[in-house]
Amino acid sequence: MHKKQHKVQVLLDAIPHIKKFYGKTIVIKYGGSAQTSPDLQAKFAEDIVLLKLVGMNPIIVHGGGAKISDLLEKLGIPTEFVNGHRVTSQETMRIVEMVLSGDINKNITSLLNHHGAKAIGISGKDSSIINAKPKEDGKFGFTGVVTKVNGELINNLVKQGYIPVIAPIADSDKPNHPGFNINADVAASKVAIAVNAQKVLFLTDTKGVLDKEANLLNSLDKEDVEKLKEDGTIAGGMIPKVDSCIDAIYNGVNKAHIIDGRVEHSILLELFTSDGVGTQFLRKDGKNNGIDIEKLLKEI
Ligand SMILES: Nc1ncnc2c1ncn2[C@@H]1O[C@H](COP(=O)(O)OP(=O)(O)OP(=O)(O)O)[C@@H](O)[C@H]1O
Ligand SMILES: [Mg+2]
Repeated sequence: MHKKQHKVQVLLDAIPHIKKFYGKTIVIKYGGSAQTSPDLQAKFAEDIVLLKLVGMNPIIVHGGGAKISDLLEKLGIPTEFVNGHRVTSQETMRIVEMVLSGDINKNITSLLNHHGAKAIGISGKDSSIINAKPKEDGKFGFTGVVTKVNGELINNLVKQGYIPVIAPIADSDKPNHPGFNINADVAASKVAIAVNAQKVLFLTDTKGVLDKEANLLNSLDKEDVEKLKEDGTIAGGMIPKVDSCIDAIYNGVNKAHIIDGRVEHSILLELFTSDGVGTQFLRKDGKNNGIDIEKLLKEI
C-alpha cells in the first residue's frame, strides 16, 4: 500500500512540470556518446514516448560522431577535427551520410516506433529542411554552416502527431552536390530556434560542463562560456555544444541544458523534478525571448 501511495505521489509531484511544458516543443540532441547500450537506448525511447503522451512535442536531432570515426578507421580513411568540428572530405561525406541517415537515424526511428510513438526519420536533405553552405569558405571541406531551417515543415509533422527524428545532414542549393555534414549540436540549436522551442536538451557522456577540477558547473551564460573556452577548460566536442546552447538562448529559446545521457531517464529527471540535472544555460539579463527591448527602443 505504501509503495502504491508513493507511486501516486510521484505522479502528483510531476503535475506542475507537466503543466509548464504542456503543448510546448522540446528539442533533444541525442549525442552519439549517449547512445551506447541497448538498455540506455530503450530508456531514452521510454522518456520520449512519455513526453509525447503528457502533451509535449519532442523533436530529436541525433549525432553519431563515434560511429562515423569507427567506420572511417575501419576503411582506413583519415579524419581530422578542428575546434570540435570534423573536417569532411568528399569521401568522408559519403560515410557520414551512410552512418547518420542510413544507420543511426533509422535505428532511433524504429526504436521509438516500437515503444509506441509515431516517429518519422528524416535528414536535412528531405524537402531541403536544412540548407547549408561551406564552413569558413571551405576550410572544413563538406562541413557546413546552416543557412536555413524549414521550421514550419517540422512543426507541421509535430501537429500531425509525429516525432521528427532529424539526421544532421544539410542540403546545398547547388544541384548534384553531396550535401553538408553539420555538427549535430549546431543542427539541434538551429532546429530549436526555427521551430520556436521552449527548451533544447543536449544528451552527452559527461555530467554537464565541468571545470578544471571536474566539478559540475550548474549555470552558465555567454561571458562564462567565453572565459572557459579561452582558458582551455572547454575543449573538443564540448565547444560546439556550449556555442549552440548560447546561440539558442540568444535567439528565442528559453533555456538550454547539457545533461548526462549515461544516466537512465535523465530527460525525465531534468524536466519533471525541481532540482534539474546537468548544466543550464540561461540569460542573466532575463531577456530569453531573443528580443532586446532596450536596443529596439534606441532604434525608434
Ligand atoms: N569542460 C568540459 N566539460 C565536460 N566535457 C568536456 C569539457 N571539455 C571537453 N569535453 C569533452 O566533450 C565531450 C562531449 O562531446 P562529444 O562531441 O564527444 O559528444 P556528443 O556531442 O555527445 O556526441 P556526438 O558528437 O556523437 O553527437 C566529453 O566526452 C568530453 O570529453
Ligand atoms: Mg559532439
